[in-house]
Formats: sequence, structure tokens, C-alpha cells
Amino acid sequence: MFRWDGNAHANSPQSRDNAACTSHLPVSTDSPVSARIYLAPMEGLLDAVLRDVLTRVGGVDRCVSEFIRVTHTLLPEQMFLRIIPELANGGCTPSGVPVRAQLLGSDPVSMAENAARLAALGPHGIDLNFGCPAKVVNRHGGGAALLDDPELLTRIVSAVRRAVPDHVPVTAKMRLGFNDDSRAVECAQALEAGGAEELVVHARTKADAYRPPAYWERVNDIRLGVDIPVVANGEIWTVEDALLCRQASGCDSLMLGRGMVVDPGLALAVRAADARAAAVRTGGELDAKLAAEPAVSWADLQPLIGAFWLLCCARLERRQQAGRLKQWLNFLRRRYPQAEEAYGALRTFHAPALVVQWLVGQGILAPDGTLATAK
Ligand SMILES: Cc1cc2nc3c(=O)[nH]c(=O)nc-3n(C[C@H](O)[C@H](O)[C@H](O)COP(=O)(O)O)c2cc1C
Repeated sequence: MFRWDGNAHANSPQSRDNAACTSHLPVSTDSPVSARIYLAPMEGLLDAVLRDVLTRVGGVDRCVSEFIRVTHTLLPEQMFLRIIPELANGGCTPSGVPVRAQLLGSDPVSMAENAARLAALGPHGIDLNFGCPAKVVNRHGGGAALLDDPELLTRIVSAVRRAVPDHVPVTAKMRLGFNDDSRAVECAQALEAGGAEELVVHARTKADAYRPPAYWERVNDIRLGVDIPVVANGEIWTVEDALLCRQASGCDSLMLGRGMVVDPGLALAVRAADARAAAVRTGGELDAKLAAEPAVSWADLQPLIGAFWLLCCARLERRQQAGRLKQWLNFLRRRYPQAEEAYGALRTFHAPALVVQWLVGQGILAPDGTLATAK
């Protein structure tokens, strides 16, 4: 198994990311040597606005952008910059966390041409999506549908690999299969053969959709079947899930998706658990209570909610703004009882002015509409 150490680490995609983003928050030295935490791509949910806010909290080593769909056209630069505005900031979120750009498509030539154009904008790597379950994408042979054709997987990755400069990492994200997981290892090997240097595995098939459980032990089979680093993903909602996932998959590095949207302190809490475990290994005491309270309290979340709203207003169309705040609060309800009340209060609001009024009433925004805590 590949391990992040010595020279291997010096050449890894991660070390290149971090070297370029100097303001990146330090990785806890107490974490297992190889442990990295990535923020998952989530189209329609985890865009640049939420990436910005969640990476302010800390604990995340890298983000992957939501997918950019490639059909048979060469996309304009503007399209890449719209979906990944971080490209205008050295490829990093404002708090300095590198963002890898994700492409989705099934035509090797188009994928290569678009990857070359994207690479010129300086992303921290290009990730290829082989897991999307959307009908419209699968009907055109893209996303998870490609998991039925390992040979095509290799051709897509190698075409992209050849099209982008050597210093730009090309990585892949896959599910365990389309209808079943019988070819999971074969698909991973096909991606490796094409030149993917790291693999994130969402531990479910397309047929499983998002239904629990995630089959973390199948990620272990993949990890043992390839020589590139494998990152486990799927159904990690708590620190306990993270530790169980690591145990079952054998992967130190994890990708967190909905769990981070529900609990923005989850990555920090996983790192704190790693630090506690390290303390035990060196003779300290283990705090038996594994993150019963969120690592970020509801009070600490208030300025982030305010910042999120202001970013929505700055970046999104007026008609989308209230919906995006409600969407996040709807996720937060799962971790914070207080979010239930907030969601209930805002549920029927569509006009941004009503949302602002509520945020001012809560003391999150000042009467002039700026962030209250910034004063
Ligand atoms: C709303 C939504 C949008 C998603 N969009 C993408 C995407 O653009 N690219 C991708 O590779 N995966 C996408 N995914 C899958 C997630 O990255 C992740 O693999 C999945 O949610 C499982 O992880 P989780 O249980 O931690 O959320 C999406 C998932 C959701 C729920």
C-alpha cells in the first residue's frame, strides 16, 4: 500500500497543493501521518460560497469543486471561473485551502481539450467524476455509467493526463459500480492505469443512490488492489463514523460531504480525536466522550451564517439567495437544535429583505446590513 511518507509525500498531490497555498491552515501534527481530510464536491449545495465559509472553520486540507459537465464543446474560460471563482485567487479559498477542479464527461477528446484549457487557469489539480448518478448524465454515458466500461475509464484518464502539464495532478472519484460492485477493483485499476494519482471512493453503487449504509470495507478491497492513495467517502456524519470508516476501509484520508454541511466543525473534531488518540499512544488519557457537543458551537456559527448570507447576496441571483440560506439551515437542523427554530422562522420567506430583517433581529447582522460581529 502506498503511504504518505518520505519522498512519496514530497511528490504527492497534497504536498504540491499546500506548497502553493501558503496561507493554508496548518495540518495538526497530531493526526496520523497520512491523514488528510477533503471537502466533497456537491453540485447545487457545496459551491464556492459554502466552500469559503466551511474552510474558514479549519480542519480541511483540500476541496474539490462541484462537477463541470463536458459534452462536445470547448467550454469558455468564463464558465470555469464562474463555477470555481477560486481560480482567480491562486486556486485557493479565501482562507487558503486549495481547490481541485472536477470535470465530468465521457468523450476522451473533449475531456482532454477542456482539461487543457482548465489547467491553464491554475487549479490545484483536475479531478474526474465517475460517480454521478443523475439520469441525464448517465443517459449520455457519463458519471457512474462509465463504471460499466473500465477500458473507457482508462482512455479518459490517460487522455486528460496527456493533455495537462505534469505538475497538475489528475485524480478520480468513483462509486463502487453502477448496478453492483462486482467490478469495483477492476474500475479502480483502470483509473490507475490511465494515470490517476489518487482515488476517492464513494462507498456505494449508483443503484444504492444515497441510501445508507456505505460499504467502507469494499474501499479496503480497492485500496489493496491499487498502488495509488485511496480516500474513503460516504456516510461520515460523526467522529465515530470517521474512525469506523478508517478502520473498515484501511484509509487514513477521508472525504467529508453532507457531514460537514450539517456540522461545520466535523473535520476539526476528527483532528481533535486523532490528537487524543495520539496522546493515548504516548501515555496520555483518552477523553471517552467523543464529540458529543459540536466542535463549533451554535454561538460560534452565527457569524458564519451571517458571512454565508452576505456571500449569497454578493454572488448569487436575488431569487436564489433566501433558498440557499434555508437549504443550509435545513442541513444544520440535523446537528443543532437551534437551527430548527431558525429554519422554521425563515421557511416561508423568499424576499431577501425579510431574511435581512430576521438576521438583524437575531443580532447576526448589524442594522446597516453588515456582519454584526465585525464591528
Ligand atoms: C447534493 C449533492 C451533490 C453532489 N455533487 C457531486 C459532484 O458534483 N461531484 C461528485 O463527485 N460527487 C458529488 N456528490 C457526491 C458527494 O461528493 C459524496 O460522494 C456523497 O455525498 C457521499 O458523501 P457524504 O455521505 O459524506 O455526503 C454530490 C452529493 C450530493 C448530496
